Amino acid sequence: MIPYSAAFSKAVHFGHLAAIHIPDSKEPVPEDVLNRLDESERQHARSLNGYRQVDWVGGRLAMRGALDDMDRRTPPILVDDWGAPVLPRGLSGSLSHKRTLAVALVARSRHGRLGLDLEDLAPARMGIAERVLLPEELDAVMALPEHRRWTALVLRFSMKEAVYKALHPYVHRYVGFDEALVRPDVDCTAAVELRLREDEGSFRVEARYAWLPGRIITMVRIRPPRRPRHPNHGEGSEGEQKRTPAEQGRPVLDQAPGREVDLDEALG
Ligand SMILES: CC(C)(COP(=O)(O)OP(=O)(O)OC[C@H]1O[C@@H](n2cnc3c(N)ncnc32)[C@H](O)[C@@H]1OP(=O)(O)O)[C@@H](O)C(=O)NCCC(=O)NCCS
Repeated sequence: MIPYSAAFSKAVHFGHLAAIHIPDSKEPVPEDVLNRLDESERQHARSLNGYRQVDWVGGRLAMRGALDDMDRRTPPILVDDWGAPVLPRGLSGSLSHKRTLAVALVARSRHGRLGLDLEDLAPARMGIAERVLLPEELDAVMALPEHRRWTALVLRFSMKEAVYKALHPYVHRYVGFDEALVRPDVDCTAAVELRLREDEGSFRVEARYAWLPGRIITMVRIRPPRRPRHPNHGEGSEGEQKRTPAEQGRPVLDQAPGREVDLDEALG
């Protein structure tokens, strides 16, 4: 395995997923690798040390890989006040790194916001169960044979971290592990029920997971609650809900504060 080389890149249900091998080491990232980043990313990377620098650079390279798959010119992907990656308008993306792998998932944001998480399957850390699971989830995990409990737990834990990353752009606050109930299915999907403390709305959550050798990847896509129908449009219809603001004759910028304008969508 060559450090900072591509591990894999593929189209998945929610977008483009790309992964980069990273070294499990505190050694500074070599200059030739830093040179693969944009200048402002490079400056940020130089402000970091040890594992943090390795992880951060790995995540940016993975995200660049995913954006390349979409044939997107890759601008610098910096950091917002909460630590989330900032993608160009019209795109959503998420990344995760764990020991020797960094992964990133990117798609157009009009399909929803993405969250991605990567976890190692070993060592088992059953001690986190009560901190990260709701009582119903704990019952489901503890009802399993002992040898299956950790994978059932880490799947739920990882899914919640992915939920957090996808939800954060909408709610802009810390979301606790008790605010989502995860019910994994054997078909690599999961039902996620949000129980938001601040009742920000009924978001639509889709969740999937994939097993890699020794790891799990969880992916979440969250769409905002459906907007109330316009009073002048009678009962409305599914087709109408899908029309863009431009198609509905509304100025594209006349939208609720905080809703990102997707220029590609707006321009048709
Ligand atoms: C933020 C958090 C989810 C990151 O997960 P992690 O396992 O520690 O680390 P990962 O490698 O998987 O992910 C780190 C990446 O997440 C991204 N990230 C950090 N904060 C984020 C946020 N608020 N929103 C979206 N993405 C964020 C960053 O890209 C970061 O990598 P980078 O700093 O190199 O760019 C985790 O530290 C945390 O705070 N969890 C508690 C909240 C939670 O999960 N609640 C469950 C709600 S149901």
